[in-house]
Amino acid sequence: MKKDLLWLIDILPEDIWRLIFLTDGIKSGRIDVSDSLRGYVLGMIFEKPSTRTRVSFEVAMYELGGHAIYLPTQTLQMSRGESIKDTAKVLSRYVDILMARVYSHSSLEEFAKYADIPVINGLSDLAHPVQALSDYYTIYEHFGKLKGIKVAYVGDGNNVANSLLMGASKLGIEFNIATPEGYEPSKIYLDYAKKFSLESGAKIKLYRDPHEAVKGVDVIYTDTFVSMGQEAEAEERRRVFLPRYQVNMKLIESAGNEDVVFMHCLPAHRGEEVTDEVIDSKYSIVYDQAENRLHMQKAILLWMVD
Ligand code: CP
Ligand code: NVA
Repeated sequence: MKKDLLWLIDILPEDIWRLIFLTDGIKSGRIDVSDSLRGYVLGMIFEKPSTRTRVSFEVAMYELGGHAIYLPTQTLQMSRGESIKDTAKVLSRYVDILMARVYSHSSLEEFAKYADIPVINGLSDLAHPVQALSDYYTIYEHFGKLKGIKVAYVGDGNNVANSLLMGASKLGIEFNIATPEGYEPSKIYLDYAKKFSLESGAKIKLYRDPHEAVKGVDVIYTDTFVSMGQEAEAEERRRVFLPRYQVNMKLIESAGNEDVVFMHCLPAHRGEEVTDEVIDSKYSIVYDQAENRLHMQKAILLWMVD
């Protein structure tokens, strides 16, 4: 059966560890992967904008000796009504791996269903698995371990939160989530997280109060209050989230841990979900986090064709 990476629910914990160790080996230079994908081509379908995902995948393919083709949907015949099925079938004859960033997760499932090659989720409304994998590597890199690390996610229970939650539940991490009512992670993710936590020993807790959620944690993570595709709800969302769910110095202090780190998948909306003071502070590891996307993309690409 071909391998797809759509939403982390079906990935084995040992495969997450394998990706983390491979990423570490690649980043440190201990594992030489140059030319490992010579002759391979990655097709990158984008329905939405991207800086990190697009560039890190493209550079990863280049540095692995392969090639990447940027395919924004507005330049494809899909923009004139060609079906996902036909697009997936045809691209499978040209390229070796597909990565797609889509509005609706069901589009991704359709790509995966009809493509004869591995499909990677480069972000959907439901999940951002490649981000979460990279983020757990960053946490591992920073603390030298994942066991015993406590993470608090503050803000919108969106695609990034869903994927971080799933990763935590598979890796046995303590994961607190503070969201306003009605903005919790997706029910399907919460249900699966509960199930996987029983096996991994992870502790997942939902909060309303961000200050309660961050008490004693090692990592405070946030993301935008208005994800791509939610622009029509922007005003309402800002009203619901602000000022209570903003990560500011007061919230950082509530962790009561001088070694706490701040993470954000980026792009950040400075002055909304996070203040300049926090994102530019000594607590912030957001640029290491962004860099690690490149190293993790290489590990993911190699794993997909393994
Ligand atoms: N974090 C992330 O996926 O960034 P981009 O939207 O720039 O790809
Ligand atoms: N939740 C954000 C993540 C961006 C990388 C979005 O979907 O827009």
